[in-house]
Amino acid sequence: MNDRVRIETQSAIAFVIIDNPPVNAGSWETRSGLLAAIEQCEHDPNVAAIVVIGAARMFMAGADINEFDVPIRDPQMPAVIAAIEDCAKPVVAAISGAALGAGYELALACDARIATEDAVVGLPEVLLGVIPGAGGTQRLPRLIGVSRAIDLIGHGRRVVAREALRDGMIDALATEDLRKKAAQLATSLKGEKHRLRDALVPPETEAVIEDAAAKTLAQAKGDRAVVAAIASVRKAATLPFAQALVEERAAFHELRQTREAAAKRYLFFAEREAARVADIRGAKARTVGRVGVVGAGTMGVGIALCFLDAGLTVSLVERDAASLEAGLERLSAAYRRMVDSGRISDEVMASRLAHVAPSIDMHTLADADLIIEAVFEDMDIKRSLLRELDGIARPGAVIASNTSYLDLDALARETSRPSDIVGLHFFAPAQIMGLLEIVRGAYTAPDVLATALSVAKEIGKTPIVARVGEGFIGNRLYSAYRQQCEFMLEEGAFPEQIDAALVAFGFAMGPFAVADLSGLDIAWRTRQRLAATRDPKARYSDVLDRLCEAGRLGQKSGKGWYAYPDGARRGVPDDETRAVIEDASRRKGVTRRTINDAEIIHRAICAIANEAALLLAEGISQRPSDVDLAMVRGYGFPTREGGPLFWAARLEPQELRRWLAVIAACVGHGFRLGDVAATVEPLAPAATPPQST
Ligand code: COA
Repeated sequence: MNDRVRIETQSAIAFVIIDNPPVNAGSWETRSGLLAAIEQCEHDPNVAAIVVIGAARMFMAGADINEFDVPIRDPQMPAVIAAIEDCAKPVVAAISGAALGAGYELALACDARIATEDAVVGLPEVLLGVIPGAGGTQRLPRLIGVSRAIDLIGHGRRVVAREALRDGMIDALATEDLRKKAAQLATSLKGEKHRLRDALVPPETEAVIEDAAAKTLAQAKGDRAVVAAIASVRKAATLPFAQALVEERAAFHELRQTREAAAKRYLFFAEREAARVADIRGAKARTVGRVGVVGAGTMGVGIALCFLDAGLTVSLVERDAASLEAGLERLSAAYRRMVDSGRISDEVMASRLAHVAPSIDMHTLADADLIIEAVFEDMDIKRSLLRELDGIARPGAVIASNTSYLDLDALARETSRPSDIVGLHFFAPAQIMGLLEIVRGAYTAPDVLATALSVAKEIGKTPIVARVGEGFIGNRLYSAYRQQCEFMLEEGAFPEQIDAALVAFGFAMGPFAVADLSGLDIAWRTRQRLAATRDPKARYSDVLDRLCEAGRLGQKSGKGWYAYPDGARRGVPDDETRAVIEDASRRKGVTRRTINDAEIIHRAICAIANEAALLLAEGISQRPSDVDLAMVRGYGFPTREGGPLFWAARLEPQELRRWLAVIAACVGHGFRLGDVAATVEPLAPAATPPQST
């Protein structure tokens, strides 16, 4: 057909083979090849039935996302799908790897679907800011009902083959030889077509549908794609098929061109790019089978959970029996919560806990391939621990520090093997947060960095690689953000106003509510540590110090930026905090003024963008998209905005300059202006598809 699609005929079965590595995305060439192949098979008298199958590990990962930035060239996927349905001969989808998005829509156009046991199917389009645009919202409800389809499409769920079989999303499992089993299935159809477009939508009451829609919407926080997906699925029960299809396609095209969808595509590619480090290509990761975690506090236990969940064995080490006991209780409680919420079974919990080797003897780490220290964030404690581990760890073991601020190189120098030391900065709660900041020290060997990247993949985290510098990437950006917000307090705003503006912008929580949750004393300690080196002429807001001195350490002490009367989880504005803020303004001779939400948002985010430009110039971060990914995956920056640099790239250049000037003036002495404009070019798509003809 063309070099992406070919036909092999065997005993009256035509195998239409999709061969578009690496993931068989439905590019223009693939669609053209498929259309031509179906037409040829239709007219070939030697063909009785057709099997569509992937050449290698994958059926089809979806539409080619690279094509979404420009008008999509004909033939588009609906034409391929119509050709399959219109074809008089039965067509079977033989699914290996993944049939996602347009790939599953292609499968839904077929007369039957068979999949290997390890395959996943689903319509995850909403995660990329669009809805299925090739009939998925109309054919899936005909197969599994409107309410189930709302849940699956509205959340972008991926369904493993066994579950898909149970729900009717596929018709058969191929435990061996997919090609042979698919041919048997095609023959068994005896020339009959089973078109989903002709099927009736299974009857359901409006209440059941409404319930599914309400539950899905509740989690979507107004996400336009989810809203549109639900509306489109509902049309399966109310509109003629052809009309609903036209409306689905129109909604898809409209959403494809939105800023949200562009941001999500950008992050999709950013995520894949992040794991690449140019100058370690070819370095081979060391094998990691046994992991040691030192410190069974909240962080250590969270880290242990990540590895246990990935099926590894973890030695969990503490200084004394009481701390170890408390850590093990934390671990069991975390698993108990997972069982209670139905996420795992009792058996899974038991098997994961059986992979924990608790000890108060550091020497049990002697056979670990990777040791992660997660002890108290204090240089002296970490230094002496690193020296101790150096004497215990086997040669070739990777030793990682979970430090979020401290100088990794100084820690590495404590050991006789600095090249085996790397930073693995997890974010709390470690078992939930998707980001892993990998710190590459001056001495870290390429294969140690490769090991860290491979470990990140194994435990399902998005890695970003940072060089050593105060706060690395994430915390340095966050400090700039928080500092700007604190300056705005001195100038006239209050915490609740700043938090509300940033939540309306899309942050999961505002900076002051976050600080209360994690405890103000962490930042307080850091400030004390840095006090000696701080330029006395630099602007410094001491409001947080004053609050801490007054015993306001955050939610855990019942008050912080906010008050938490009677153990409330949501803080309420507090007069004492207001008084401390107003006093700070007075002491600095600042006349308080009204700061509107637009100023809050622009100053807060441009401050991050400026710091990002500085750390890119210093080589702390490899690329702008890593910075955006860090903020989105680690700090609750809204996905729909793509990250601070992606956002800044969409400001008018003069507006960006204006806000940077405002920040420069407000920070004053010592302010460093980064070349934000030079760093805000969004990541280019991997390939530029042909323009519409
Ligand atoms: N369009 C274009 N490129 C795609 C793609 C798509 N739909 N899906 C994956 N790719 C590319 C990736 O960018 C990556 O390219 P790179 O090697 O140049 O970085 C390559 O294919 C491999 O993808 P990766 O995700 O690293 O492979 P994997 O084996 O870990 O995972 C999938 C495979 C299919 C599970 C995963 O790629 C995926 O989830 N894809 C998106 C599915 C989707 O959302 N489809 C709906 C589209 S609207």
